[in-house]
Amino acid sequence: MTIVFYDALHVIGALMLFAGLGGLAALALSGNPTHKARVPFVALHGIGLLVLLVAGFGAIARLSVGFPGWVIAKIVLWLFLGASLTLFKKKPQAGGMLLIVVLLVGLAAAFIGNYKPF
Ligand code: HEM
Repeated sequence: MTIVFYDALHVIGALMLFAGLGGLAALALSGNPTHKARVPFVALHGIGLLVLLVAGFGAIARLSVGFPGWVIAKIVLWLFLGASLTLFKKKPQAGGMLLIVVLLVGLAAAFIGNYKPF
């Protein structure tokens, strides 16, 4: 596979993840975070995380970069975005703030991926 393929897949994974997080945030803010309408958003969140990770490791292999600091940082941010699913369920009243936090974390991951600063 080419690096362009992995990059495109990586971005598609991020879009799926954030579509899922957006839906979960909306349910949290509606005061009913466990409503059955959460199922497609949980699926988007999970599949998006998986696609992001697989494409991320594909890009690492293609670029032969190994595991510098910026890759480790992205894996930590990825873990946080995975755990954020539980936060939306456990702290629905903080849904708006959580939505801003996950967006900032996603922005940080995208910045780090583009600029590879450390
Ligand atoms: C936390 C969620 C993440 C988001 C939102 C995210 C987003 C991005 C974006 C927007 C880019 C630049 C565009 C591109 O080249 O595709 C990028 C690059 C990259 N990401 Fe991620 N990423 C995330 C997690 C990860 C993880 C977990 C890994 C490693 C397992 C990873 C590995 C990479 C690599 C290696 C690049 C460089 C690709 C290149 O230079 O061609 N990312 N990421």
